[in-house]
Amino acid sequence: MGPTGTVVGVDLVPAMLERARARIGAVGWENVQVVRADATEPPVDGVDAVLAAFLTGMLEEPAAAVRTWVDRTAPGGRVTLLNAVRSERLSTRPLNPLFRALVRLGAPGRRLRRASPARALERRYARARTALFEATVDAFEWRLGGGFVALASGRVPE
Ligand SMILES: C[S@@+](CC[C@H](N)C(=O)[O-])C[C@H]1O[C@@H](n2cnc3c(N)ncnc32)[C@H](O)[C@@H]1O
Repeated sequence: MGPTGTVVGVDLVPAMLERARARIGAVGWENVQVVRADATEPPVDGVDAVLAAFLTGMLEEPAAAVRTWVDRTAPGGRVTLLNAVRSERLSTRPLNPLFRALVRLGAPGRRLRRASPARALERRYARARTALFEATVDAFEWRLGGGFVALASGRVPE
């Protein structure tokens, strides 16, 4: 982001916003603000980029959210998704049971707990990624963090 750019962070939970504000204050960023809003209907339009960090796995309608983000991003801008997933790497696959356990511990509600929360997370992310790949160009996916973080990104057509 350039010196004249602005970042608007969005979350539904006030405690998350307070933590973000504390961190922004600690580093002294003046061009970063956070607001309480539903990310599926973000309070911005015509932005240069959208980054949905560890969010799509929590949404009931992840594909619809991605289509909204693409609509709200200016032509040539990028929409990027980050999501936790099980690793497909031989070297880190043995850690997948630990990953599943951590996701289960953090999953809200009984309904998600009966099914596999890790699978639910991945299914939602997969729907989001498909929508992203359909609505953008130059789309790609990388695996980071030992294979446990998926980054998918696409450019909004001109
Ligand atoms: C796993 S946390 C990730 C937090 C942060 N984005 C990060 O990367 O550190 C998921 C966050 O999504 C927020 N969230 C879930 N549904 C949301 C929605 N519809 N709109 C905005 N925030 C939402 C939750 O409140 C939670 O803080």
